Amino acid sequence: MNVVLIGFRGSGKSTIGKALSERLKREFIDCDAWIEKRTGLSIKEIFEKHGESHFRTLESQAIGELSAMDGKVIATGGGAALKYQNMQVFKRNGGKIFFLEVGAEAAFRRIQGDETTRSRRPALTDKDPFTEVKEQIEFRRPYYLKGADVTVETDGRSVDDVVTEILRHVQDAGPDDKPPERRDHDPVPL
Ligand code: S3P
Repeated sequence: MNVVLIGFRGSGKSTIGKALSERLKREFIDCDAWIEKRTGLSIKEIFEKHGESHFRTLESQAIGELSAMDGKVIATGGGAALKYQNMQVFKRNGGKIFFLEVGAEAAFRRIQGDETTRSRRPALTDKDPFTEVKEQIEFRRPYYLKGADVTVETDGRSVDDVVTEILRHVQDAGPDDKPPERRDHDPVPL
């Protein structure tokens, strides 16, 4: 079973995904990084040179490849859930999909605070950055909810807290998913 994370930019998919993969002792794969490695281009370059619709095709291809694997923790790009077929491909192959829910203020704060990813991420609209985040979160929420098996709130919660909630669902999913080792460490804010 793959553990799949969906949600808007700044919802913590990479941070939570890496922490989950450590706790579960599974490999973490970031779908965007997979596409960048395959194409030799950054996501921003793919958008600029070939347009968003070409990126969406590459994204669906990558999801096809990743969903055929097993026992991975996979973080998808923020737009992957817009195509329900992407979610179906994960589910058909036994993936469990977690929607990391984030409000516009927290998402904006996290995106702005992350200089490297901020310069790597193409703008999705020509709106000002906060309006884009707010409107896109509103627009996409029904898609995330439809695609997800489980919705997990992330606002105001520590990484450890969110990871622990996801692990509970993963353990409930079946005997293949061994309980992770419990490690005591300070809560890290998202
Ligand atoms: C996108 C989010 C990005 C990346 C691409 C498109 C989106 O991933 O896939 O820039 O449509 O929201 P992150 O959510 O990791 O930033």
